[in-house]
Amino acid sequence: MTLLTYLRRKLGLTGTKLGCAEGGCGACTVMISKFHPHLKCIVHHAVNACLAPVCSLHHCAVITVDGIGTVASRLHPVQERIAKAHGSQCGFCTPGMVMSMYTLLRNNPEPSMVDIEEAFQGNLCRCTGYRPILEGYKTFAKVLDFGLWYCALMYDPSKFIPLDPTQEVIFPPELLNLGKQPPRQMKFKGERVLWIQPSTLTELLDLKSHYPESKLVVGNTEVGMPMKFKNLLYPVILAPAYISELNSVQHTKQGIVFGAACTLTLLGEVLRDAVAKLPTYQTEVFKAILEQLRWFAGKQIRNVAVCLEQTIIKYCFKFGAVLMDDNFFPGYRKTALKPEEILLSIEIPYTKKGQYFSAFKQSPRQEDDIAIVTCGMNVVFKEGSNIVEKILLSFGGMAPTTVIPKTTCKKLIGSAWNEKLLEDACASLAEEMVLPPSAPGGMVPYRRTLTLSLFFKFYLTVKHYLAVDLQHEAVPPGQSSEDFVGRPIMHLSALKQATGEAVYCDDIPCYENELHLALITSTKAHAHILSIDTGEAMTVPGVVAFVFAKDIPGSNITGPAFYDESVLAEKMVTCVGHIVGAVVADTQAHAQRAAKVVKITYDELKPIISIQDAIDSQSFYQPVRTMKKGDTAQGFKDSDHILEGEIHIGGQEHFYLETNCTVAVPKGEDGEMELFVSTQTALVAKALGVPANRIVCRVKRMGGGFGGKESRSIILSTVVAVAAMKRPVRCMLDRDEDMLVTGGRHPFLGRYKVGYMTSGKIIALDVTFYANAGNSKDLSFSIVERALFHMENSYNIPHVCGTGYMCKTNLPSNTAFRGFGGPQGMMVAESWMSDVALACGIPSYEVRRMNLYNEGDLTPFNQRLEQFTIGKCWEECLDISNYMKRQGAVEEFNRQHRWTKRGLSIIPTKFGISFTSVFLNQAGALVHIYTDGSVLLTHGGTEMGQGLHTKMVQVASRALGIPCSKIFISETSTNTVANTSPTAASASSDLNGMAVYNACQTLLQRLEPYKVKNPKGSWEDWVNAAYFDRVNLSANGFYKTPDLGYNFDSNSGRAFNYFSYGVSCSEVEIDCLTGRQKTLHTTIVMDVGKSLNPAIDIGQVEGAFMQGLGLFTLEELHYSPQGSLLTRGPGMYKIPAFGDIPVELQVSLLRDSPNDKAIFSSKVLGEPPLFMAASVFYAIKDAITAARSESGLSGPFRLDSPATSERIRNACEDRFTKLCPPAEPGTYTPWAVRV
Ligand SMILES: Cc1cc2nc3c(=O)[nH]c(=O)nc-3n(C[C@H](O)[C@H](O)[C@H](O)COP(=O)(O)OP(=O)(O)OC[C@H]3O[C@@H](n4cnc5c(N)ncnc54)[C@H](O)[C@@H]3O)c2cc1C
Ligand code: FES
Ligand code: FES
Repeated sequence: MTLLTYLRRKLGLTGTKLGCAEGGCGACTVMISKFHPHLKCIVHHAVNACLAPVCSLHHCAVITVDGIGTVASRLHPVQERIAKAHGSQCGFCTPGMVMSMYTLLRNNPEPSMVDIEEAFQGNLCRCTGYRPILEGYKTFAKVLDFGLWYCALMYDPSKFIPLDPTQEVIFPPELLNLGKQPPRQMKFKGERVLWIQPSTLTELLDLKSHYPESKLVVGNTEVGMPMKFKNLLYPVILAPAYISELNSVQHTKQGIVFGAACTLTLLGEVLRDAVAKLPTYQTEVFKAILEQLRWFAGKQIRNVAVCLEQTIIKYCFKFGAVLMDDNFFPGYRKTALKPEEILLSIEIPYTKKGQYFSAFKQSPRQEDDIAIVTCGMNVVFKEGSNIVEKILLSFGGMAPTTVIPKTTCKKLIGSAWNEKLLEDACASLAEEMVLPPSAPGGMVPYRRTLTLSLFFKFYLTVKHYLAVDLQHEAVPPGQSSEDFVGRPIMHLSALKQATGEAVYCDDIPCYENELHLALITSTKAHAHILSIDTGEAMTVPGVVAFVFAKDIPGSNITGPAFYDESVLAEKMVTCVGHIVGAVVADTQAHAQRAAKVVKITYDELKPIISIQDAIDSQSFYQPVRTMKKGDTAQGFKDSDHILEGEIHIGGQEHFYLETNCTVAVPKGEDGEMELFVSTQTALVAKALGVPANRIVCRVKRMGGGFGGKESRSIILSTVVAVAAMKRPVRCMLDRDEDMLVTGGRHPFLGRYKVGYMTSGKIIALDVTFYANAGNSKDLSFSIVERALFHMENSYNIPHVCGTGYMCKTNLPSNTAFRGFGGPQGMMVAESWMSDVALACGIPSYEVRRMNLYNEGDLTPFNQRLEQFTIGKCWEECLDISNYMKRQGAVEEFNRQHRWTKRGLSIIPTKFGISFTSVFLNQAGALVHIYTDGSVLLTHGGTEMGQGLHTKMVQVASRALGIPCSKIFISETSTNTVANTSPTAASASSDLNGMAVYNACQTLLQRLEPYKVKNPKGSWEDWVNAAYFDRVNLSANGFYKTPDLGYNFDSNSGRAFNYFSYGVSCSEVEIDCLTGRQKTLHTTIVMDVGKSLNPAIDIGQVEGAFMQGLGLFTLEELHYSPQGSLLTRGPGMYKIPAFGDIPVELQVSLLRDSPNDKAIFSSKVLGEPPLFMAASVFYAIKDAITAARSESGLSGPFRLDSPATSERIRNACEDRFTKLCPPAEPGTYTPWAVRV
């Protein structure tokens, strides 16, 4: 059992969250303290509770977020600062952030900025964009420095509770005594596993020969994963962490010897110390290891993991010593160790004069990511010369084991370190470092090119040695201090989120007779189901029942807009991950174990996986949408030039930190049921065969949604509800299940033809979108429509024609995701804009500027642009970013650097606000005033971190004229506000805000006579007087957006209530050899009207921007050619981490731009700023353009999204890429296909 399960299920300490169960997100971070018998002191470490076996914690004290402070008693400064610095939105990552920072401060109450940044390497947040978290926590730093993030502080750091280290919980004295006693062997026997913790080396060796198949476990960061995800069982586990020989550190004449149980954190500390003390020539390997450690996992992993599988040089096993060369790893995850042998220590040698050593790691994300290619390179020169005496190159990522290109190494011996050697080495490496085109992991040409590029980096490094031996608008003057609209008030739940007291769906205490549910899903993309065998699953202890399609009492047909899918697959499966059934058991572990052994036999059919497959077989959902304005044929005739191109935009996983969860509780009569759900919308009654009035869905808050919980959560809720007809049933999906079954952002292919003048002015556009919709229509129709509504982004094109296809494929149905097709439509627009600029040879900012709309222009859907502020945003963005000066500096930099290039880009956005399905543009609210004057507010929107409840309280506060503290929102529920629209389309604060305002107005009118009668009275006086006068103090509010109704056939009617606008500028630097990129600067100017809450709005801008940064530069979903998702967790799927924040970030809200179309002149902005990250993508494209010009290449070129290191490297064509051409398509089966 893991510590996390123990904390949450056995102790009911639900502050610590489950985000991934694989050590990749940090939501489960806790502090573990122990008396270290060998260091003879108490050590505190942040660890991932989801990986830590409870058995390994004997002698340890565990402190969780629940234990360091509460809202009611005393907040810990770490909890207070993240909340007040607006670093908690949905709050699901917050307890983990708090505990990482708390642990750092326990070890070092005055940390440096670097310490703080390092402390968060293992924590992910999907909402905030990270800046406010770091900013709040930097107030603990010895030297306060807010770095290069320009955002006005919307809190007062001088009012923070000071940190007082003397007030911390002490290490329990009984554990201290226990730790000082001689160690003794311990055994723990579980349901299936025997865990033995030997106390001496002799005991360990005896046990290993007695149980040769036993598994040694130290940090469990390697072994824990297959046990959890592949159902692997190790019946005997030996835990050698307390054996003194395995924890020792010895300095010898040759190097430093580390016991095999020394953690990576300890290894780093010792090596850092040695580098500071020893002559530099001796510590070449140490420095290279330290550099690698920076990028090795996160802090929590390094605190417990040992350095077994890494690159180290020499190790001792049992009592012999062996060199760690390519013979050490005979196969994937295999070592030369025999079953009865153990590894005792690892020796890391000193280097000598004339010896140079470098290590490189290229991964999709720099921080906390597994390498694509990694290498260690060692060269020794003949004394006083540049002639190679010995050279050893060793590569990871090029085969199942480490590869040493022996032929190349041999060839280089005796050569001088010069261009000729480089040429020879590259030619030889290109021949020797081959990979089959279908190699697991894909990216074959890139990986091959990397071996050359990394060698080139080593070459340059050695050659060098040889040669030298944010702002916001203040509220208007005179605004009452009790009017909270426009003030940056903190997210109302932030403090509870920081203490772990905020309750999410799975934190609801277990019901006495509750059962747990696990899904049975298809392993085939397209097949008839022949049989389902539950025989073996039934033998798993605790299994109570199975649920299949035949068990659904009502209708098995479902869907949010079109009823074209089934709750449970019956005769046929249409994607890998299609839900076929479910197992219900006494615990989650038993339910999951049983689900994994249900055997389904299939008759397989040919699947359609990618957009290209769908085009080839004309597999489209109907209707195909077209939007047309002007005469494109004439437009092309009138143009000086025409160009054609295409861009593919990859999909994206929502990666909300809280996965989908439902607890269903039957009420025992009349078919009533209560559902606690993490959803943006709720629909289950149909499947239960009862009227909707019997089902109450309750949502307290969600740990993020981003569209992923709009429609896809319905299926899970329905399955759980069906299983819960007799007893309460709970299911919170594991991260891998959630990623597998719920679908994500639609991948898009955009094909375009543009007619333009030599000046860069665009005359005509014909664009076709293909969206990979997956195995059901879900919301794809509206998503493709929104792409068409945004196909021209912010540019005035006289003749436009856009067509949108929904590709019907055998992938899990793709669905709503922040932006809802808008970002894809605009991304294609920026691709043709970039092509036109490159073809004309005119700077892209000039071409973009000359084509921008002006006030009063008509869009392709004939909506007139009023209060059009893009021009203003553009000028402000140029000004704040110092664009022209920056442009000059970029050009100068690129002249001076051959292998590093910089790029710059400025991109506008115009985002339509309203649901395009007109009926959804309605909202309700219910407001009760109690006799003590307190107000209970309910509205139709759900809280998922976006601060909706906070804004609604602000609206009610202004409308009623009372402080926010008198108003409370408990939850969203279908029995208080019925028939709610999904909390989506960025429209929730507009719609619900107006509904709340409407309800408040009704109440105010009812109170008015009592105010008139007693003008000097208080709110409570008026409420009381009204109550005793028998006045109804509850009111409903309702709002529908007026004048909406676009018609595609006539291309007329208003599609949107208004538009949100923004402009962003980014500067990036790329490493042309590896493709690594860094965002150096971003300025964002957003028009948010008159902000309801600038702190929340800036949080939305930054969070959306970072999500866009992930979409356009980093996040890649890989599918096998058979349609199976290969990237099912944070280990394989990389969202931006702390290290990905732009070095310089400036977010600014446009001043003086009230919006007369929404509540209190505000504008919504949940979705619009996401596209601002396109400026990073096009800055990368600009930098690649500079790199290509070095190879004599000019003009338009294709760059698909995301611009990963692989794509950047491949686009920077040069002599190395030419040596590693891709294999001919169709001649091999690739590891992954582009969908
Ligand atoms: C989120 C995350 C990120 C990661 N990032 C990286 C990364 O960036 N780079 C990377 O290389 N790896 C990474 N890993 C993999 C893993 O952390 C490392 O391989 C780590 O070194 C394993 O150490 P551990 O103590 O946790 O191993 P454990 O899981 O405890 O055991 C690892 C293996 O070593 C064996 N073993 C342990 N001690 C001995 C001994 N004395 N003698 C013989 N065999 C022994 C075990 O039987 C087991 O097979 C990551 C893992 C996670 C979960
Ligand atoms: S839940 Fe433990 S790291 Fe994600
Ligand atoms: S606040 Fe960090 S994930 Fe939501």
